[in-house]
Amino acid sequence: MADLDVTDIRKDFPILSTTNHGKPLVYLDSAATSQKPLYVINRVSEYYKTFNANIHRGLYELSMKSTEEYQRSKELSAKLINAESYRDIIYCRNTTDAINIVALSWGEPNIGKGDRILITDMEHHSNIVPWLMLAKRKKAILEHARLKDKSFVDMDDFKEKLEHGPKMVAITHASNVLGTINNAKEMARLAHKAGALVLIDAAQSVPHMPVDVKDIDCDFLAFSSHKMLGPAGVGVLYGKDQLLESITPAIVGSDMIRSVTFDSADWNELPWKFESGTPNMEGGVGLAAAIEYLERIGMRRIREHEMKIARYALKRLEEVKGVKVYGPGVRDADKRGGVVSFNIAGAHPHDVATIFDSEGIAIRAGHHCAMPLVNQVLDETSVARMSFYLYNMEEEVDRAVDAISKVRKVLRIKE
Ligand code: ALA
Repeated sequence: MADLDVTDIRKDFPILSTTNHGKPLVYLDSAATSQKPLYVINRVSEYYKTFNANIHRGLYELSMKSTEEYQRSKELSAKLINAESYRDIIYCRNTTDAINIVALSWGEPNIGKGDRILITDMEHHSNIVPWLMLAKRKKAILEHARLKDKSFVDMDDFKEKLEHGPKMVAITHASNVLGTINNAKEMARLAHKAGALVLIDAAQSVPHMPVDVKDIDCDFLAFSSHKMLGPAGVGVLYGKDQLLESITPAIVGSDMIRSVTFDSADWNELPWKFESGTPNMEGGVGLAAAIEYLERIGMRRIREHEMKIARYALKRLEEVKGVKVYGPGVRDADKRGGVVSFNIAGAHPHDVATIFDSEGIAIRAGHHCAMPLVNQVLDETSVARMSFYLYNMEEEVDRAVDAISKVRKVLRIKE
């Protein structure tokens, strides 16, 4: 497989040739949100300039074009994750929203007193809080599988908790703090054997690697457009067709209705029955362009590139005294994505991020919306994080490693 031509790819992203504090921008925060190529930017602009109209509501050409393009976006999303049909693709606001839709629409009628929901210790708040609130409302029990070596799901503990018979197993595919990529297929197999449904939080996997919902055999899967070169405000919820058919939507009104009287209402067909109100049409069109761009490059090549750059970053950080890296080490680089969290002894991660910023380098620092993991498992108040994408280069890792010396100098930390 040919390596990515990153120099060429970078030309597609106008923001990457800007400066930050007068220095060439090094953007290492794609796990928070990705940058956008001109192809996506132009497509959204074209939407506004040439076919902006509400979908499913106008008997005129513009509206038909807008409807067609929105549906085409769903077809591309379905193809990207190997879903059977666009019927199984619900667009919402983001991954958090998608998980909330499942927790409300499926969870409310299906979870009762004493029922169990199983997550893991490496979940983002988005895959904790909807289940936690559901469990509180229903007097159900939220369990979390422990980690091994503060890096991987402890499969013995996971299996033990499956023996308690959870009704839902909701797991992240790739951790936004540790970088760990979970064996979603095996975890789904075990969960199904135990009688549970499976939801995959794929916010950090779908943008970075090939993901196949049929192969994983998950019941639900969620991801966000803005983390994969598309506009913000569009989330994707995949669900198995029959399951989606059987669920009554929790959020109702507008386009999701087939017919309504003052006494009753029934729902539109899939996927529209889960989309109430005017959707983010320009966002859907932009996401379609993002998928086209990513697929032209190839998800496997993107994965290979990120593995290479993460391995390089891990190696470089290993050489620096007083730097602690979290998640799988260099030897397990194939089990992790392009997220590298670290701390510098004696430096608060917020200071690290501020000093990096003064060098033109954008990283994230904090609990990364994974407080139970960062505070209780890693035993830190916060960590600094570099996260890579298809447009990052090894030279940028070098600039980040150089910035560590500046952190030491500014904060007067002794070697
Ligand atoms: N979940 C996103 C992150 O990890 C926002 O930064």
